[in-house]
Amino acid sequence: MVKYGKFVALITVAVVAVAAFALVGCSQPAATTPAPTTTSTAAPAADLKLVTPGQLTAGSDTTFPPFESIVGGVAQGFDVDLLTAIAKEAGITKVVFSSEIFDSLIPTLKAGGKFDVIASGMTIKPERKLEIDFTDPYFDSNQSVAMKTGGTYTAPADLKGKKVGVQSGTTGASWAVENLKPAGATVIQFKDTASCFAALQAGNVDAVINDLPVTAEYVKDPSKGLIMAAQIPTGEQYGFGVSKDNPALLKALNDGLAKVRASGEYDTIYTKYFGTAPSK
Ligand code: ARG
Repeated sequence: MVKYGKFVALITVAVVAVAAFALVGCSQPAATTPAPTTTSTAAPAADLKLVTPGQLTAGSDTTFPPFESIVGGVAQGFDVDLLTAIAKEAGITKVVFSSEIFDSLIPTLKAGGKFDVIASGMTIKPERKLEIDFTDPYFDSNQSVAMKTGGTYTAPADLKGKKVGVQSGTTGASWAVENLKPAGATVIQFKDTASCFAALQAGNVDAVINDLPVTAEYVKDPSKGLIMAAQIPTGEQYGFGVSKDNPALLKALNDGLAKVRASGEYDTIYTKYFGTAPSK
């Protein structure tokens, strides 16, 4: 191992030296070295460390439309389309979504061997960044209060003595525990977002705290009898999560995201799910 490490270090030094030489060469007017045709340093897809070679496997709680849901056995949504477009830029043509419980995503990614990336509308948070790496942000989000039609919410005190459903391990759960519990609400944790809304419809909880765009999607269908009673501006940003042991994949995803943004494909995907172009 040590020998191998030294070998790699030597190669690295050699490559850096050659690159530096090439750069110096390029800055000389009389240089004959042709300019490199590409500035990309991304590892070719074949060199990426993936659970299943040639395929990007994503871990996700797939009860989170319009970001991820399973329709007819197939994963679909904004995260699915965006990650697929990014992967393509990185030379990976197959993306597979593995349905997981949200609060197991970070430990499972860290343990390794099941999926390569978390694609689950996951908010970039300092605590999470201690455990995993995040790509550059790809979506701005906030929290919201969902209630049955006719319900109103203006302040935490409105939920005194009430039951509030949240998805375990989410930023919505933390917000509810920090802001509603002290005001006298009981915070009830559910394993996924679908269960939170089912409990709200059934009258088992009085409100659900959840990411705004997802609540907006759940309340769209009037037959559910649910409304978004309030928006809570938390200024969150979603990122794709990658193991700290896989910096090459992180770089490939960031490069891919930049290309998908630059080509306009990001806007196309955004418009497909949200009906409008993203605000810049
Ligand atoms: N953005 C929130 C968080 O990171 C909620 C994400 C929940 N995602 C999901 N696919 N259920 O905590």
